[in-house]
Amino acid sequence: MCGIFGYVTSKEEAIGPILIAAAERLTYRGYDSVGAAALNGSKIDLRKDVGKVEEVAAKYNFAELRGQRGIVQLRWATFGEPSQVNAQPHLDSDGDLVGAHNGNVVNNVELREQFIAEGLTVRSQNDGETCVHAVERYLNRGYEFIDAIRLAYGDLQGDYAFVIGRAGDDKLYAFKKGSGMVVGLGEGFTCVSSDLPSILPLTRTVIRPQDGEIVTLWADHVEVRSVKDGKKIDRMPETVTESMDAVQKGGYPHFMLKEIHEQSQVARELIHLLDASPEIETVIEKMKNARHLYLIGCGTSYHAAAVGSVYLAQLAGRAAIPVLAPQFIAQYAPTVGYQDVGIFVSQSGETKDVLNALEAAEARGMTCFGLANVVGSTLTKATSFCLPLCCGYEISVPATKTFTNQVITFLYLAYRMANRLTSDLERIPELMEQTLAQTAPQVEALAKEINEWNDLYCLGYGATYPIALEGALKLKEITYAHCEGMLSTEFKHGPLSAVSKGFPILFVAGPNDVPLIISGLNEVKVRGARTIVIAEDDPRLRANADDLIVIPKSDPQIAAPLGVLPLQLLSYHMSVMRGFDPDFPRNLSKTLTVD
Ligand code: AGP
Repeated sequence: MCGIFGYVTSKEEAIGPILIAAAERLTYRGYDSVGAAALNGSKIDLRKDVGKVEEVAAKYNFAELRGQRGIVQLRWATFGEPSQVNAQPHLDSDGDLVGAHNGNVVNNVELREQFIAEGLTVRSQNDGETCVHAVERYLNRGYEFIDAIRLAYGDLQGDYAFVIGRAGDDKLYAFKKGSGMVVGLGEGFTCVSSDLPSILPLTRTVIRPQDGEIVTLWADHVEVRSVKDGKKIDRMPETVTESMDAVQKGGYPHFMLKEIHEQSQVARELIHLLDASPEIETVIEKMKNARHLYLIGCGTSYHAAAVGSVYLAQLAGRAAIPVLAPQFIAQYAPTVGYQDVGIFVSQSGETKDVLNALEAAEARGMTCFGLANVVGSTLTKATSFCLPLCCGYEISVPATKTFTNQVITFLYLAYRMANRLTSDLERIPELMEQTLAQTAPQVEALAKEINEWNDLYCLGYGATYPIALEGALKLKEITYAHCEGMLSTEFKHGPLSAVSKGFPILFVAGPNDVPLIISGLNEVKVRGARTIVIAEDDPRLRANADDLIVIPKSDPQIAAPLGVLPLQLLSYHMSVMRGFDPDFPRNLSKTLTVD
């Protein structure tokens, strides 16, 4: 996830240090390149490259940038590889405009083709440049700046926030759709950013523009106008009172809870991005034609691979073998060849076990694709193509939003392979929001009731079987309790003997698995277990389960990414109730770079 910051002051000054400081406060979002532009009279001084803020700022001497307006951007590559030309900000054809965005413009490819046909100079593949040309095209046709933005807004599809300035002017313009944006009002300056933390050290007086609003920033005031009719809108400034730490956590007490609640937004961005990704066709073709298809990962990423293998089989009739990375080396690596395809799944892209498996697969000539969150990680560089997860930084050690986006990516691939309409998947983000809203109070109460237990089971079937594994992993990871995930039908083959009075057993059920789950839950209920079911509302479940946590009605496959959400919340609350820090569980680290 990229980050942007724009600054307007009343007189020419050393603006470089302000831009560097703002960039440093955006780094927590994750990035691969950095750029800064100072607008000084009729000149635009633009410096940018791939690398960390301190490296790029030192190499190009950002500190010496002077001007009355400035823009800095941290880029997290999605459209176009991390490179100097793709780094932001971008200039228009004549170098009169400079702008930068965060988010994704999903019709980037079509718009770039239009601009090239219209004779504009397109230098990169990046969609931030597309935003600049989208405004340029209408300025060239004689429109006033605000009207050019209004028309550009209609052309740009996706979720983004964008800031742009023109040489020889005294203001910046900003607008947004879907992504966050905050405007800061200070003494003798104004600023705008994708993130509150980059503004707070400068001022606590802010305005939060809504989608479809254009903000013009002068040094001493701002003006908000509607995209629809260009009319002025009154937006009262507010004072931010929270601490910096609280703001970075988005007002949530922990990063984990923030990241749980970010899931619908990152899912929305992912689905748009997948629709706009031309490379996905190649991945699908290779997957279809593979002799054997392996889905390889560790921990949570392995669980997503396991859900993926159910989707590919159920929807597309394509067998795919989900396998833990070290087991791939031990079992399958000696058998694979160039006719086989592997998808290596990893949040960090740095997990040593996964990279070892990749090395073993490549040594045998297997076609290797990646599915990773951290762009620029070893996995993204070492595979022939790596699908991005689009989640931004996941700070909390327990993976949450990266898991659901991994699952949704597999669902998307399965839909495409089955020639089903991917537009049906656009319901998922809303269903996720609904799930969190409707289950949260019940789950928190349940956490209190079962928190005394240090042994639990979590059972599922079909696509919800790996969800049960994932729920059990989350519970283990941050509550330190023993929780086992299992195929529901396996429980009677041994673990049943462990059941005692009140023993909590969680079931996650897809809509087609209700009869099977009912028989499983009665088996344990008659032996004294407390049966907690996560499923769509169903009178049969109401009649049989002790607790029914209702998720919204959806397709059987969509029940899986919805069903994991109450389990994430349950683990979170039990962890906090036990006095642990769910973000940083003992003995664990976010990235495991050891064997
Ligand atoms: C999940 O909550 C864990 N932190 C862990 O299982 C993790 O998924 C595993 O270590 C793999 O990491 P990766 O996705 O970065 O490869």
